[in-house]
Amino acid sequence: MHISKKTKVLSCLIIWRLISVFVVQTAHVPDEYWQSLEVAHRLAFGYGYLTWEWVMKIRSYTYPVLLSIMYRTLALTSLDYVIILTVLPRIFQAVISAYGEYKFYKWTKNKWTLYSLCINWYWYYCATRTLINTVETAFTMIALSIFPWRDSNIKSVRYLWIVGFLCMIRPTAAIIWLPLCLYHLCTSLQNKLMLIRQYSIICAICCFSSILLDSYYYGMLIISPWEFFRVNVLYKIGDLYGTQHLLWYIICGLPVLLGCYYIIFLLCIYQIMKHSSIFHRQAVMLIVIGWTLGVYSLLPHKEFRFLLPLLPMCLYICTSCTFSLNVKFIKTAKKSFVGLLILTNVLPGLYFSLIHQRGSLDLMNLLHKEIINTDNNNILFLTPCHATPLYSYLHMNVSTKILTCEPNFTNNTNYMDEADIFFANPMQWLDKTYNSNKNITIPNYVISFDHIVPKIGRFLKQYQLSSQIFYAHFPQLNYGKYIYVYKRK
Ligand SMILES: *[C@@H]1O[C@H](CO)[C@@H](O)[C@H](O)[C@H]1NC(C)=O
Ligand SMILES: *[C@@H]1O[C@H](CO)[C@@H](O)[C@H](O)[C@H]1NC(C)=O
Ligand SMILES: *[C@@H]1O[C@H](CO)[C@@H](O)[C@H](O)[C@H]1NC(C)=O
Ligand SMILES: *[C@@H]1O[C@H](CO)[C@@H](O)[C@H](O)[C@H]1NC(C)=O
Repeated sequence: MHISKKTKVLSCLIIWRLISVFVVQTAHVPDEYWQSLEVAHRLAFGYGYLTWEWVMKIRSYTYPVLLSIMYRTLALTSLDYVIILTVLPRIFQAVISAYGEYKFYKWTKNKWTLYSLCINWYWYYCATRTLINTVETAFTMIALSIFPWRDSNIKSVRYLWIVGFLCMIRPTAAIIWLPLCLYHLCTSLQNKLMLIRQYSIICAICCFSSILLDSYYYGMLIISPWEFFRVNVLYKIGDLYGTQHLLWYIICGLPVLLGCYYIIFLLCIYQIMKHSSIFHRQAVMLIVIGWTLGVYSLLPHKEFRFLLPLLPMCLYICTSCTFSLNVKFIKTAKKSFVGLLILTNVLPGLYFSLIHQRGSLDLMNLLHKEIINTDNNNILFLTPCHATPLYSYLHMNVSTKILTCEPNFTNNTNYMDEADIFFANPMQWLDKTYNSNKNITIPNYVISFDHIVPKIGRFLKQYQLSSQIFYAHFPQLNYGKYIYVYKRK
C-alpha cells in the first residue's frame, strides 16, 4: 500500500499531539476549565457552576456548545465516565491543533517551521488544552494557509469564514485579522465592490448566527461582545486580574514563548526591513505582529497565552529568513544552536507539563474517587478562586462551596471580593460563615493549601487530614506547595 507523504506528515503530527494529551498533566489557567468545560458540562448535564462572566452574559456560548454536543453524545451512549469526559475534549483539541500545523506546513513548505512549532515548549504545553487561545491558534494557522496573499494563486475569500468563526468565539481575534483583511482588500485585483459585498455578507452571517446562538442559550436577546465591552468599561474589570508593564510582551512575553529564537527574531526583523520585497509575506506578518502587540500592550491585563495565535507567524519569520543567515554560520555553530534549542524547549516543556501546578488535577481525581460511593457530600474549597476545575472533573451533583472573586459590582467604596476577605483573616471568615450560622451544613471535606492550615486550626479540629497532594514548587500568592484534603471526623 502506498501512503502519500502528506498523509504521513498529518498522521505524525496527530500522534505527536495525542501523546502530549497524556504527557501534559497539569493545570495552566482557570479559563481552561471555567470558560469551556464547566460551561459545557452544565449545558449537557443540567448542574454545575457558572462564573460571573456567564451571569453577566459577556461570553459567547459558541465554544462551550460545541463541547457540550460531545458531552451529550457521551451521555446518550452511557459513556459519560469522568476519564472520558475530561480526555475526549483534549483529544479533539489535539487533532485540531495537529490539523492546523499540517495546513500551515503545507503552506509554508518549510520543515524547519514545522519542527520549531512541534518542539516549542509553550505550544506543546497549550496545544491540547481546552483554551479558546488554543482553538484560535489552530484556526489562525488554517486561515493563513488559505489566505489570498498577493503572490499566491488563491483568490477566494474562504478564509473569511474561519475569521468570522474566530470572532464569534473570541471577538478580540478581530485585532489580528484587521490588518490582514485590509491588506487583502487593498492588494486584491478583483472588483473592489464585489469584494466588499462578499465581506459584508460573511460578516453579517457570522454576527447574526452568533447573536442567535447566544440569545438562545442566555434566554434573551444578547450581543455578548457588546456586553463584554460595556461591563469592562463600566467596572474596569481588566485591572482586577493584574496589570503589567506596558512593555511586558516585548521584554517578557515574547522571550518566554520564543526562547532562543527571540534573538533570531530580532535579527530577522532587521533582515526583513532591509529586503522587504524578497520577504513579502514575512513583512506583512511582521506588521500584523507589531500591530497586535501594540494593541495588546495598551491593555492593562497581559498573559502569555494571548500571544499564542502570533506564535506560528513568529516561528515562520524566524525559520524562513534564517536561510540567508545560514550561509554565514559554520556547521558546529549551527549544530550547537539546534542542541541549545532542543534543550531550552524540552526541559521547561517537561517541567511545566508534568510538575508545575499538577495538584489541581490530582486533587479532583482523588475527590472523585472519594465521593463516588457516598451520598450527601459537601465540599468546601478554601483556595483562591477557580484554582481547580469543579463539576467537569467530579461529574456528580454534590454541594460545593468555592471562594468567589467577583469584580466590584457594588457601590461599596471598601469592596473586597470573598477570596480577599478570606485570605485577609481566614478564621474570621469561617466563624462568620459557619460557626455563627446554625442553618448551614458543615462541609464534610475541606480543601486548603498548606500555608492556610495553621491559621484555621480551630475550624479543622473537627476534621482529620485525609491526603496531601503536591501542587507546585513555585506557587503564586495565596497558593502553596501542597494541597491538604481534610475529612470530617
Ligand atoms: C443538583 O442538586 C441541587 C441541590 O441539591 C438540586 O437543586 C438540583 O435540582 C440538582 N440538579 C440535577 C440536574 O440533578
Ligand atoms: C450605584 O449607584 C448608582 C448611582 O449612584 C446607581 O445608579 C446604581 O444602581 C448603584 N448600583 C448598585 C449595585 O447599587
Ligand atoms: C466600587 O465601585 C464603586 C462605584 O462603582 C466605587 O465608588 C468604589 O470606590 C469601588 N470600590 C473599590 C474598592 O474599588
Ligand atoms: C435559620 O432558618 C430559620 C428558618 O428557616 C430562620 O428563621 C433563621 O433566621 C435562620 N437563622 C440564621 C442564622 O440564618
